Amino acid sequence: MSKLIVANWKMNGSINKVKEDLSNYVQDLATNRHNVVFALPYIYLPIAAPLLGSGNLKLASQDVSVEPGYGAYTGEVSSVMLKEFNIEYAIVGHSERRMIFGEDGYLLVRKIENLLANNITPIFCLGEAQEIRDGGRYLDFIVGQLELLLQIKQFKNLVIAYEPIWSIGTGLVPNNAQIVQVLNAIKAFVQSYLVYDKIELLYGGSVSGKNAFNILSEPVIDGVLVGGASLKVDDFSAICRFGQ
Ligand code: PGA
Repeated sequence: MSKLIVANWKMNGSINKVKEDLSNYVQDLATNRHNVVFALPYIYLPIAAPLLGSGNLKLASQDVSVEPGYGAYTGEVSSVMLKEFNIEYAIVGHSERRMIFGEDGYLLVRKIENLLANNITPIFCLGEAQEIRDGGRYLDFIVGQLELLLQIKQFKNLVIAYEPIWSIGTGLVPNNAQIVQVLNAIKAFVQSYLVYDKIELLYGGSVSGKNAFNILSEPVIDGVLVGGASLKVDDFSAICRFGQ
């Protein structure tokens, strides 16, 4: 079964690393059956685009402007600009953007609308903090985060990544039953309330070459969003070889 494997480089990389790593992946993953998406810093996307060709290795941005099109918005990059480089996905609502840059629901909805208007698939991230998990009401919290999506009338493709904040960059990974419980709740919500052509549900948080196969073996988990381990070619290639 084909999965969606997303590398989130965050604010890491260099021109050389982009060229070397992606050339490596193009060779190494030539016959790979999964869709592999590299979410790179904006400035590296135009370097990466010609390296990847038209196979199942694709590009994502890690964010997008809340403003559509063009205009006097210093420092912003719009979905129209991403489309020019054939960027197919964009991460929206990563917990680092919500917490460090104060992004709220209003911004996230507008970002998703802009992406959809340009046929770019949003990778919408959500997940609870440790206190919320400990308090036991994490499913209610996650449904609350999903309710934002009710403001959008129709999706073509949508990717939702469950990324518990307590697991990002910590080495703590929920067990499969915990991940499946949350993804089933997300699935029930989207099936009841959203209109879409295709939806894929990912898990993210301390995914590595060591634990990815176990996580990906669950049918409800359509893929993984990989942070730290996506910077290590051996580790990430290993993840991409799931099922082969
Ligand atoms: P991590 O990050 O794999 O380093 O935990 C995942 C993410 O933040 O998307």
